[in-house]
Amino acid sequence: MTTRVAVIGVGAIATQHLISYQHNPQAELVAVCDIDRARAKARADEFGIPRATDVVEEVLADPGVDAVSICVPNLLHASIAEAALRAGKDVLVEKPMAVTVGEAEALVRATQETGQALQIGYVRRFAPNALVTKRFLDEGEFGDIYAARATIIRAAGNPGGWFGDIGVSGGGPLIDLGVHIIDLCWYLMGMPTAVSASGATFSALGARDNIQHLSRYRAASASRVNNVEDYATAQVRFEGGAVLDVDTSYSLHARNATSVKIHGDKGGAEIEPELLMITERHDTLLHIHPQIDSLGFDFTVGFANQIDHFLRICRREIPADATAEQGLEMARILTAIYESARIGAEVPITR
Ligand SMILES: NC(=O)c1ccc[n+]([C@@H]2O[C@H](COP(=O)([O-])OP(=O)(O)OC[C@H]3O[C@@H](n4cnc5c(N)ncnc54)[C@H](O)[C@@H]3O)[C@@H](O)[C@H]2O)c1
Repeated sequence: MTTRVAVIGVGAIATQHLISYQHNPQAELVAVCDIDRARAKARADEFGIPRATDVVEEVLADPGVDAVSICVPNLLHASIAEAALRAGKDVLVEKPMAVTVGEAEALVRATQETGQALQIGYVRRFAPNALVTKRFLDEGEFGDIYAARATIIRAAGNPGGWFGDIGVSGGGPLIDLGVHIIDLCWYLMGMPTAVSASGATFSALGARDNIQHLSRYRAASASRVNNVEDYATAQVRFEGGAVLDVDTSYSLHARNATSVKIHGDKGGAEIEPELLMITERHDTLLHIHPQIDSLGFDFTVGFANQIDHFLRICRREIPADATAEQGLEMARILTAIYESARIGAEVPITR
């Protein structure tokens, strides 16, 4: 049984959704929707999709659409996702699921009341480096994970467009990039309950649009607004005492760097930039190098796996496993970090 899919918002990241659906025999792309009608039409032509519209409600009212990928700016995620769930569609919503805790709570209610599936686009969970780590974790190879450390530093990587406008994005690199690596660590730590966060944010350098001879990820629509943080650094504490340290930037005097590490009482792993497992046997430290096609974060394979997984959820072969409840916990964590940065003190996470 194929799932009939519409993609809502067909800017930059929608390309990965469209390609992955197009290559998956279990999916039929039936519609694209974008507030920019010409972009919707161009995408429909590019991917041979029968229908293009600029009206989201039209897609949601269509009984010929089973599921939607939501790839619009952050602020619109929750309202479109809730409308889609209530219209009887299954939803793959790009990260972050919601900008506020209140919106995230509404999505939890919507999934409970409709029984429809909501999956968050945490693509990093689906790349082979993470899948292998998870398998080893589940087999107990690392023991209990009590610390994790995650970094995505871009020296000059503000995508521009709505990403720089806090009213549409909800924040800068923390909510955009940090959300990916916080989730990956949190998922691998066994999704512990967050109890507090301490963070700091800085806006010292701006968007660095002056930097030349350096390509960067760009949002589809240009805008010169930039009122988000350049750099965020934080520590999140969890029930049981585990901690997660994160730092992430759009602009920083630093080398570009991505790293994700987890540390357990039996072993540890560096998932990015290249998968490496670390343990001890017979009083000797061991570095274990798995032999897999890509030790780094393979975006293309991760996306194909994520879309295939979502289609299995749509066919009810498996339940959603990056759920609205998990999106709510993320909203609590991100909100607490921003609040901590604002007041300059650790913030308890209450529920
Ligand atoms: N998973 C990842 O690795 C990844 C990477 C990049 C972006 N993202 C996420 O994907 C989302 C989109 O990011 P992007 O980089 O593609 O942005 P983008 O600006 O390139 O594209 C967004 C598209 O949404 C359209 N749009 C805006 N308002 C709309 C509305 N009301 N109805 C329909 N369409 C509307 C815009 O016209 C644009 O075409 C963001 O939430 C971002 O966080 C995820």
